[in-house]
Amino acid sequence: MNPLEILIKPWQEAAQEAYLIRKQVFVEEQGVPEDMELDEHDLSAKHALAYKDGLCVGTGRLVQLDNHQAQIGRMAVLKGYRNQHIGKSILNSLINQSKIEGISRVSLHAQVSAIPFYAKLGFLAEGPIYDEAGIAHRNMILLLEKTI
Ligand SMILES: CC(C)(COP(=O)(O)OP(=O)(O)OC[C@H]1O[C@@H](n2cnc3c(N)ncnc32)[C@H](O)[C@@H]1OP(=O)(O)O)[C@@H](O)C(=O)NCCC(=O)NCCS
Repeated sequence: MNPLEILIKPWQEAAQEAYLIRKQVFVEEQGVPEDMELDEHDLSAKHALAYKDGLCVGTGRLVQLDNHQAQIGRMAVLKGYRNQHIGKSILNSLINQSKIEGISRVSLHAQVSAIPFYAKLGFLAEGPIYDEAGIAHRNMILLLEKTI
């Protein structure tokens, strides 16, 4: 058994591991400029970190936009660990976190190649395709049922 653990952490505790993953995936693999990797939202965001046998292999973040809306971003799993449902577990944990915080609308900027991944958890694509950091993106949204 290779247990997978997903932990939600504030930036102060997540920064080192999250940045290592993002650097390998977005900067080195996808060619995103390094100075675009960190932004002002990291400090307030909740960060999901995926641990396989104690090693951090994936990350993603949830940025609260207002009382009802949040945005998921920076979803990345190390290349050697993909297609093992680690990304799905990260995304699920961020959706659960949204529910805990009473969020009713979750949005994200999906790389076009990742749209089927997000669609499997119920996100719907909307609007035009646009360029972000040199990569084709499209907005996706997930409406959550009100629990109160
Ligand atoms: C996108 C990413 C996070 C997905 O993580 P992952 O751990 O490989 O995905 P999972 O194994 O959890 O996939 C869950 C499901 O989505 C499917 N899926 C994942 N990526 C897919 C893709 N690009 N196209 C089609 N289906 C995909 C899987 O086959 C799986 O389907 P199943 O439930 O029927 O078995 C990962 O590929 C990654 O880090 N890519 C590079 C960075 C990136 O593009 N991030 C997205 C930025 S918007």
